[in-house]
Amino acid sequence: MGKEPVRVLVTGAAGQIGYALVPMIARGVMLGPDQPVILHMLDIPPAAEALNGVKMELVDAAFPLLKGVVATTDVVEGCTGVNIAIMVGGFPRKEGMERKDVMSKNVSIYKSQASALEQHAAANCKVLVVANPANTNALILKEFAPSIPEKNITCLTRLDHNRALGQISERLNVQVSDVKNAIIWGNHSSTQYPDVNHATVKTPSGEKPVRELVADDAWLHGEFIATVQQRGAAIIKARKLSSALSAASSACDHIRDWVLGTPEGTWVSMGVYSDGSYNVPSGLIYSFPVTCRNGEWTIVQGLSIDELSRKKLDLTAEELTEEKALAYSCLS
Ligand code: NAD
Ligand code: LMR
Repeated sequence: MGKEPVRVLVTGAAGQIGYALVPMIARGVMLGPDQPVILHMLDIPPAAEALNGVKMELVDAAFPLLKGVVATTDVVEGCTGVNIAIMVGGFPRKEGMERKDVMSKNVSIYKSQASALEQHAAANCKVLVVANPANTNALILKEFAPSIPEKNITCLTRLDHNRALGQISERLNVQVSDVKNAIIWGNHSSTQYPDVNHATVKTPSGEKPVRELVADDAWLHGEFIATVQQRGAAIIKARKLSSALSAASSACDHIRDWVLGTPEGTWVSMGVYSDGSYNVPSGLIYSFPVTCRNGEWTIVQGLSIDELSRKKLDLTAEELTEEKALAYSCLS
């Protein structure tokens, strides 16, 4: 007998990430080629007609794994019974804005949707927040949905992780699939710290450290970090819209690895509730290196942190602490 369908909620489904993401989910990119899905697509009333158009296209595409589509502007209907919630709904930043500039619009959405998820989602629903400011929206969702286990609420920094792998692969002219174990520490913002101190590349003579192969500290400490930190802004400048296909693909990577597990010897970056690991203050949603097994993530422990890295880990934690205070001030 085939598997029972999994209900996957995508909020902001009529938007540009939504439009890239829902066909990936319906094709099995997120949960595997043998996992049927029922898509719940939520948006707001001004987008209802466009949302219905997306539903029509999903029907027209005749995806074999797609067992149903709920397209709604009713948050309770959208959240009811969902096993996985991808929270994309919100307002994207425009050229010249920092991600925290979209704070006041977005955190209030996350406060109200927290209650809907808490009351109506399936038990053990896994939540991924994509909308910016992603870490702080996820934190607000966690705080206003106290009965959802904190381990189930995460935010997307996999896009930054993938961007780091992409930059290393371009620089060394190697396959991106041969590069692994980069780390994004902290906030999905320009203070994030893309760290390749433990990253490796598969070569014909075995795995080699990225630091040994690049052998250019000035580039690794300068241009590489800045490019990854500023990539979102560079995409906005080029497209006049924020990243969408890479965000959607990375959201699939995040959920796939969380649910189905990370490959042996490989870690990925996820924004998760800090437990004080690496002396990061607890009470923040902070991006760490994690491995996943049996549907649970675990922070990779024991990695050495040099002095430069320590400063960068602390700087991005400070920004998250400030964002948290700002978010609460927006909600009061
Ligand atoms: P978009 O404007 O194209 O789509 C957003 C959608 O959300 C719209 O259809 C809008 O109607 C809907 N929406 C607004 N309020 C809502 C609510 N209360 N409930 C449900 N839906 C609601 O934006 P986009 O380009 O798809 O980006 C979505 C978000 O993702 C933005 O906040 C963007 O900054 C963020 N983003 C994050 C990452 C990341 O790596 N974490 C990457 C790219 C974009
Ligand atoms: C990104 O990283 O591409 C997104 O967070 C969009 C943005 O505002 O940078």
